[in-house]
Amino acid sequence: MILSGAGREILIAPSILSADFLSLGEEVREAAAAGADLFHLDMMDGHFVPNLTFGPPVIDGLEKVTSLPLEAHLMVEHPEIYLEELAHDGIYRVTVHWEASSHLHYVLSKIRDLGMRAGIALSPATPVTMVSDVLEMIDLVLVMTVNPGFGGQSFIAHSFEKIAKMRSLLDDSGAAHVRLEVDGGIKTSNISQVVACGADTIVMGSAIFGETPCKTVFEEIRERLATG
Ligand code: DX5
Ligand code: ZN
Repeated sequence: MILSGAGREILIAPSILSADFLSLGEEVREAAAAGADLFHLDMMDGHFVPNLTFGPPVIDGLEKVTSLPLEAHLMVEHPEIYLEELAHDGIYRVTVHWEASSHLHYVLSKIRDLGMRAGIALSPATPVTMVSDVLEMIDLVLVMTVNPGFGGQSFIAHSFEKIAKMRSLLDDSGAAHVRLEVDGGIKTSNISQVVACGADTIVMGSAIFGETPCKTVFEEIRERLATG
């Protein structure tokens, strides 16, 4: 956890999508030692998004190499079919896409019934108000700052305004405890700005598992947030 200049508790969630899958255990241990607060696991099914990643077996393996919380970001159709297995694998929080769930109320209840925390992700074109009627059922909202599907994309500039709108919606609805996560194109160069807009949980993939050693990246994140 890093305390931002404005006094907000900021959590950094490395997305393993950009890690070297052939040395995943080592990459995860290194990021944990550098200061990760939790790990963000992007599950994609090749239908909701045009990419395929990994599923419960990999998640089960990760649980053995880190004691940090694991959150699953489900970019899949029919997210409900994976929930029991994810709960069994020790997943702390599951985030489902508003755009992928025809029966979101049911899916969110099921996530909590299984003992996990529940999150809703909104793709870039989905308005923030879509979470209004389920605020009591969620622990997190994820504002996607790229179109879901791939790591290493550029941050969509309009997202700054959208994050700020989501911050106001949460604060004005008595839901300030709901975490506001951002995901996609976050680097040390724009992290202060997303935090200034009200984000408190920051997913970073290519920035953390890129060419710069992750220890150096975390040092820079701390510096930016302290002064930003
Ligand atoms: C994209 C994923 C992200 C991705 C972020 O669909 O949800 O979590 O890994 O990667 P970067 O930080 O490289 O944009
Ligand atoms: Zn993600």
